[in-house]
Parts: sequence; C-alpha cells; structure tokens
Amino acid sequence: MNALIRQADRYVVIGNPIAHSMSPFIHADFAAQLDLPLQYERVLAPLNGFVQTVAALKAAGVKGANVTVPFKLEAFALASARPHTLTSAAEFAQAVNTLKFNADGTMLGDNTDGGGLCRDLNRQLRVLGMHLEQCQILMIGAGGAASGCVAAFQQAGVQHLTVLNRTVSKARELAQRAEAIDLPAAGGGFDTPPSHFDIPGAPVVIVNASSSSLNGEVPALHPDWFQRAVLAYDMMYAAEPTPFMRSLSNRDLPCSDGLGMLVFQAQQAFEVWTGQAPNALETLTKVRQALLAKAKQQ
Ligand code: ATR
Repeated sequence: MNALIRQADRYVVIGNPIAHSMSPFIHADFAAQLDLPLQYERVLAPLNGFVQTVAALKAAGVKGANVTVPFKLEAFALASARPHTLTSAAEFAQAVNTLKFNADGTMLGDNTDGGGLCRDLNRQLRVLGMHLEQCQILMIGAGGAASGCVAAFQQAGVQHLTVLNRTVSKARELAQRAEAIDLPAAGGGFDTPPSHFDIPGAPVVIVNASSSSLNGEVPALHPDWFQRAVLAYDMMYAAEPTPFMRSLSNRDLPCSDGLGMLVFQAQQAFEVWTGQAPNALETLTKVRQALLAKAKQQ
C-alpha cells in the first residue's frame, strides 16, 4: 500500500434540521486551502437522540463535531460532566457549538460563536481604522445568541456592553452576568437612550442578536444611539440585506449581516480541531457567492 496515502480525519455537524447547513462547504474549503485530508459531513440527529448520536460518532472514530440548533444546550450538558472539559466561553454561554473528541475518550466543549463574531467585527472595524478594544457594544436581544457572545466581548477587550431587550428583566440579568466576568455592562428596554446609562464615550458597535428579523420586525432604538455608532451588525444572514440592515439604509452607517460570523466561528472550530488556521476571508467570498447563486436558483 502507498504509505503516502493519508487517512482522512472525520468531522461532522449535528443538527435537526441539518440539510441547509453550509458548514460542510466551509470546512471543505478550509481543508483544501491547507491540503489537509479532512472529511466533514452533515448528521441529522433524532430530536430525542443527541447523546446516542454523539456516542455512535465517537465510537466510529469521528474527531470532532459542530453542534447546531436545537442541540447546543444538550452538548453543553454532555461536555459539563466529568472527565470532559469546557472552555470559559462555553461555560458562560451554557451552550456548546464545538466538540473535540480526544483520543483518551474525553471531550472538550467549546463555543466559538462569540469568538467568530468578534473576529468578523474586528475585520470590519479594521477597515475603519478601529478595533473592538476601543469600542463599546450595544447588543439587541438577551436570548441564547446574545449570551453566546458576552464572554468573547470580554476577551476581546470591549470597553462596555449595553444589552437592550423586549423583556427588560432578561437584558438586566445578562448585563449582571457580564459584569460578573469583569465586562462593564448595563441592561434596559429598546427605548432607553445612551444618556440613561453612565457609559464611556467610546464608539458604538450595534449588534442585533435578537430573532426579531425572523418575523420581519426591527426593534426601534432610541435615535441617540446612532450618533456614536460606527458599525451595525446583524447576526442573521441572507442573500438579500436583512430587515435590520434595510431599516438602517437611510443612515450613513456601515451595516453587515452575519455571514462572516458563520465563517469565522467555523475557522475557530477548525483551529480547535487541527491547530491550523485557514484563511477565512477567502472562504467567506466563496460562501457569499454560493448563497447568492442558491437564491438565484429559487
Ligand atoms: P436565540 O437562541 O436565537 O437567541 P432565544 O433564546 O429564543 O433565541 O432569544 C430570542 C431573542 O430575540 C430574545 O432576546 C427575544 O426577546 P424576548 O427576551 O423579549 O423574548 C428577541 N426577540 C424575538 N422576537 C422579537 C421581536 N419581534 N422583537 C424584539 N425582540 C424579539
């Protein structure tokens, strides 16, 4: 047998549904860039069968998994039990989107969503001559997507986090949890002006982490927030600008959807698994093209 033939390491993305996932496209591109023999597949787990699915994949020699809706909380519970380990980002989020299966049978649970968001924000801020360390975040929403990013904001050196949410108590609770990890934070309702909080004068990056776009709705922020805003970011993405982005189109404010977050969170997961860093920007260009091509066909 040719000794030079390398056995492909197997990775998967587990979800339900999963057919729409772009992760196989992204990871195949990363592997091709680095000439790594890596196989990445979609796995549809039964809604009541996540734990069994993970056990079967581990037994089959799979090296790692991305975990998506609706299993991130179950993945957290699984990786919380000893002798497994969790990263601080996963612990804060109480959700896991990346599992690494170690050779000794243990697993690492990580959450790369927030790290991916911060990488994309810094990429876009760099174009403006800025960095997250100089900025404060105004985050809309206080659900799972929002809490998944708070630890990464703290690690990225963000100056201050304001959480505004439809249910105000949840915004305040998330802000309190942020403060407990030394990220200065405050919470309130959508109509709260910046002056209501004693926040520093750093440039504002607005991040929409609410799922309101799914209903075509856009939270109405107090207009004063836009005076110091330098970038607006919607975690949702689509071939077309999202409702949140469209609502800002008459403002002189750079706006982005969350496709970059998807690719950069995958880049971070790929690094956790392989120790190698692919060029995410190159992949993002291809993913954007694929998304547009798919929309044209429909
Ligand atoms: P996800 O995992 O996508 O974050 P989630 O945990 O259910 O989902 O959280 C959804 C978030 O979007 C919440 O902050 C929710 O606000 P509430 O806490 O008040 O429910 C927010 N959200 C959903 N629909 C919304 C809408 N139409 N307008 C404003 N906020 C909305």
